[in-house]
Amino acid sequence: MAANKLPDTIEQVIEKTIETIESCKNDLLDISLATQQESDEIRIKLMEIKQEVIDVIDELDDLQKKEKLARVRLLNVSKNLRDYTEEDIRDAYEKANTLQVKVRLLKNKEKDLIAQRTALEYQVVKNKDKLAKAEKANMQIGIALEYLKIDLGNEEKADNPRENLGAKVIIAQEKERLRLAREIHDGPAQAMANIIIRAEYCEKLFDKNIALAKQELQKIKEQIRTDLKDIRKIIYNLRPMTLDDLGLVPTLTRMVEELNGRQTNVKINLDLVNLKDRLPSVYEVAIFRIIQEALNNIFKHSEAVTATIKIKRERDLITLEITDDGKGFAYEQLTTGNESEGFGLLGMIERVDLIGGEIDISSEENIGTTITVEFRITGGK
Ligand SMILES: Nc1ncnc2c1ncn2[C@@H]1O[C@H](COP(=O)(O)OP(=O)(O)O)[C@@H](O)[C@H]1O
Ligand SMILES: [Mg+2]
Repeated sequence: MAANKLPDTIEQVIEKTIETIESCKNDLLDISLATQQESDEIRIKLMEIKQEVIDVIDELDDLQKKEKLARVRLLNVSKNLRDYTEEDIRDAYEKANTLQVKVRLLKNKEKDLIAQRTALEYQVVKNKDKLAKAEKANMQIGIALEYLKIDLGNEEKADNPRENLGAKVIIAQEKERLRLAREIHDGPAQAMANIIIRAEYCEKLFDKNIALAKQELQKIKEQIRTDLKDIRKIIYNLRPMTLDDLGLVPTLTRMVEELNGRQTNVKINLDLVNLKDRLPSVYEVAIFRIIQEALNNIFKHSEAVTATIKIKRERDLITLEITDDGKGFAYEQLTTGNESEGFGLLGMIERVDLIGGEIDISSEENIGTTITVEFRITGGK
């Protein structure tokens, strides 16, 4: 960069930095995408090789049987040389010999294919690692970027009372995005890649075996149907449409009904007191999210038999309580440990903080866990 191009105000420095970081973020995204594509290609190749290994093993099986027969015949022929013509003898010998060579070649091929398979499998693992690193770096860059942008804006908005919440919210948002990215990557994206692989296999089948191809097509259709369900689930988790349209109560009722109908091990009770009127949407969303995360944890960690969600309104005071009778956990140790992968509880705390409420998480071994949230409703929307 030329000396006279040096930026001269701090704003320009920050702006330039933001630009650079943004371009890095894009590069990183390119790397991720390329790695993902590579992974998909490797998986297609892997599938082909796995099929080839199966074919070779079958062929080898067959050939080895034939070879054994040929050897037995050769043995017989050489024991009773007088009963055979010279041509018979030569023939038996040659057959046994060729088969032996073929078996050896095929065994080499098998070894070769297995080596290729191992190498590809190793590459898949490495790619996964690469992707995870890129994802993490992307999130950190995202956070840094948002920090920089906030600082830029702050000069005019220094008296914004929510300013100190900014950083926490941003980190929570980035984490949420990362979680979502991962969910889409492991779910729908993987599913699409699988469908491509199966479609390719199906295409090949059409030349060989129409009936089988049709069967495969049927399976692909079923697969797509299941994947569509998964995608709908992700969309629903993002923001249930009913939450905006119908409100918290019908959305919760429906969710609990749906979960209880799914025959999971946990029975969920919903207890709503004085909630006929709708709440301003920030509160409805907050309550819904807190319940969602609490239920996630109950299903994932608690081994509970029953869970109870209780929401109570007294004028502008809302109390939300989520209790389970599961195995409990040492919450104090969790917060000091700080290195845990999960940020579900942290997210809850941040959310409650955002709406100016209080949260209490208490858990006792073999008795269960109770999360209590209390806040006051202020303002209209
Ligand atoms: N209802 C619960 N019952 C038992 N253990 C729980 C419950 N909720 C949370 N935990 C424990 O607290 C940890 C942190 O939870 P969370 O922050 O949501 O992260 P994650 O669910 O991703 O692990 C969990 O890993 C689990 O050990
Ligand atoms: Mg969790």
